[in-house]
Amino acid sequence: EHAAMVPFADGSVQAAQASPIAAALIAWHARHGRHDLPWQREPTPYRVWVSEVMLQQTQVATVIGYYERFMQRFPDVHALAAAPPDEVLHLWSGLGYYSRARNLQRAARQIVVDHGGVFPDDPVLLARLPGIGRSTAAAIAALACGRRAAILDGNVRRVLSRYFRIEGSPADPDTQRRLWQLAEACTPGQQVEVYTQAVMDLGATVCTRRRPLCLSCPLSAGCGGYRSGRPEDFPAARPRAARPQRQVVMLLAARADGSVLLRRRPPQGVWGGLWAPLEFDSIEAAAAFCASHLAGAAVDVVPLRPVHHVFTHFELTITPLLAHCTGAMAAPAGVMEGDGVLWYNPREPARVGLPAPIVALLDALSAA
Ligand code: ADE
Repeated sequence: EHAAMVPFADGSVQAAQASPIAAALIAWHARHGRHDLPWQREPTPYRVWVSEVMLQQTQVATVIGYYERFMQRFPDVHALAAAPPDEVLHLWSGLGYYSRARNLQRAARQIVVDHGGVFPDDPVLLARLPGIGRSTAAAIAALACGRRAAILDGNVRRVLSRYFRIEGSPADPDTQRRLWQLAEACTPGQQVEVYTQAVMDLGATVCTRRRPLCLSCPLSAGCGGYRSGRPEDFPAARPRAARPQRQVVMLLAARADGSVLLRRRPPQGVWGGLWAPLEFDSIEAAAAFCASHLAGAAVDVVPLRPVHHVFTHFELTITPLLAHCTGAMAAPAGVMEGDGVLWYNPREPARVGLPAPIVALLDALSAA
């Protein structure tokens, strides 16, 4: 008997075989999957896309509030394309990984300009847009368009690595190729949107990184990881390099009305385009700046408790330096207000993007 041959997204043509996991997952999803997430109502490509990008590095529980506010302000791709970038970053403030927000708006503009405002439903075209990788493209095509397209995000990688007992490190290109083949082979032709949500939900709620709930798993009967008795050994741990430590001094130049001097950061870097206090290498350099630039004010400089923040590739210790500007109109000579500089009043917050640790610092300041 000859199996039907089907083209796969990687260009290969393979014998179609029934997915070993799809039927059990789809049945499981009806009772145990998540059905009430905001992006599941009206799963248009735009709504699914924004949710997938927010969920790339952030937990569902955190994303929900951000997602609702974002959709209220930017209900469609035209609204997002036309928005001031500061406002997009404002609604992203606290979610982290701000290049996601910058790419989201760049992609929105490309969809408006190059695609007439209509999302392509072809994952290959979707993956050409900024910030949309192979898995995110497939998630949009499958969840919003019902196209047969295989996803491989962190949850799915874990489910497949366990089920098929994949030994190699997920960082290894051969292992990645193998996982993509398995992801393609497991993706069914029917009910692909249910399957796709189901496999993500299983990874998030049952096939968890630590202490997976194998006794509640619809796939345990065929699962190599379960049979091994050590499902947590799959996938192999990625080797983690130690993060370099960085130190900065941040000058909180505060006016009597509570407003603090902020500067827009250059577009590159983890906080690109966000607003933050002026940064210095040392307390002495910051104090010298105060003495020479904060005009017309008696300046009283106080170091505050350091704040620690962990990024993916480094750790940052911020020493905040509070400079009360007693003069009514203290303004730094040489930097014009409006030109990437503003006095930010936490009681009447400007609609700009602020990094979460800076929000916490300003909150602590206005509470003090
Ligand atoms: N993580 C990534 N995409 C998701 C989705 N659609 N639902 C829940 N968690 C997700």
